[in-house]
Amino acid sequence: MKPVVIVTGTRPEIIKMAPIIRALKKSRIPSVFVHCGQHYDYNMAQQFIDNLELTSPDYWLRIMSSSPGAQTAEIMAKMDELLCKINPSIVLLEGDTNTVLAGALAANKRNITIGHIEAGLRSYDLRMPEEHNRRLTDHISEYLFTPTKHAKTNLVKENVWGKIYLTGNTVIDAVKEHLPIAEKTSDVMQQIPFKEFAIATAHRAENVDDPVVLESFIEVFAKSPLPIVYPMHPRTCKRLQENNMLGKLEAMRNVLILPPTGYLDFLILMKNSKIIITDSGGIQEEATAPNIRKRVLVTRLSTERQESVETGFATVVGTDTKRILAAMNEALNNQKELPTTSPFGDGTAAEKTVEIIKKNIV
Ligand code: UD1
Ligand code: UDP
Repeated sequence: MKPVVIVTGTRPEIIKMAPIIRALKKSRIPSVFVHCGQHYDYNMAQQFIDNLELTSPDYWLRIMSSSPGAQTAEIMAKMDELLCKINPSIVLLEGDTNTVLAGALAANKRNITIGHIEAGLRSYDLRMPEEHNRRLTDHISEYLFTPTKHAKTNLVKENVWGKIYLTGNTVIDAVKEHLPIAEKTSDVMQQIPFKEFAIATAHRAENVDDPVVLESFIEVFAKSPLPIVYPMHPRTCKRLQENNMLGKLEAMRNVLILPPTGYLDFLILMKNSKIIITDSGGIQEEATAPNIRKRVLVTRLSTERQESVETGFATVVGTDTKRILAAMNEALNNQKELPTTSPFGDGTAAEKTVEIIKKNIV
């Protein structure tokens, strides 16, 4: 039996592919795990492989390029060689990173079937590299696994060539499985000096590569009505250093800066926070998990996770200081009852995906 290749490149891909890797193992379908090395620091990659109790990747590529184009090309060239050697039945890619587009192009050029997990998301914000990556990947994939009806409709409207399936998002599977483990094992709350806090993350290129937006976020932190716990993404750390802004942030006594935390610790921080402030995609989804259920302020101009907004979990608040602070005050003063189910599925997305693969491919 030809193996299924699972490709990851970044932190969220490892988290969202973990349930698929496990479901393939459970179904005794041979698989090969390739980490493309787009994220390479221990706390952006291996930490998640450990936290999610995955076996080490069969192949871990070393990517030397940093410009987005060269990075994509290097991953594509290395994946081309590897796919020729492995000769898989299908290549599974998750999400919208440069790794996803590079892996999809490499498979396409070798006439290997592509399965796109989390297909059909659209922000219609063409400043985002992710919007280009996910659109292009969707249009060369034979199997499109969509998390929601809305994502499925997007693909139908665009006349994609592949077959579309509605599975839910594997991120809900991951939260369902790992929050109970985190509650038993994580001691991250011992590091938190605040009784109540907001958790914040920021890493989107269109935000943190713009010094005006960075300055705006720093102002929000300075004037926040609630202390902030802030695990800092390496891209943002680099940009803050380049713009001589890191010192200002480090001096704030109401802000606890952490290195990127492990997955179990992050789940506990979300669970114990009053509110989440983020430009992350995955966090907008996780906040809707029945065992997390938190309000999220999305510090972006758009979202491709409209379902989080429609169900009342998320509010898109832009990047302007005053607007973000007003939204924080509003959310803290008007605490509303949130739904007890997630719009991203019931935690069986991986099982459904693997069932489809079993029936149609391997
Ligand atoms: C990437 C994805 C983004 C995803 C995010 C998850 C693209 C276009 N972007 O953004 O969609 O939401 O990952 O976190 O694919 N760096 C390190 N150590 C690492 C990884 C990165 O120091 O382990 C630094 C490097 O300076 C690097 C910069 O972060 O140049 C940006 O990394 P990159 O993977 O290109 O983009 P992200 O911002 O992480
Ligand atoms: N996450 C984590 N530690 C952190 C920040 C995020 O474990 O310090 C997890 C979070 O739970 C979510 C994922 O990383 O599952 C989101 O990754 P990120 O925001 O980098 O990427 P995106 O989802 O925007 O692509």
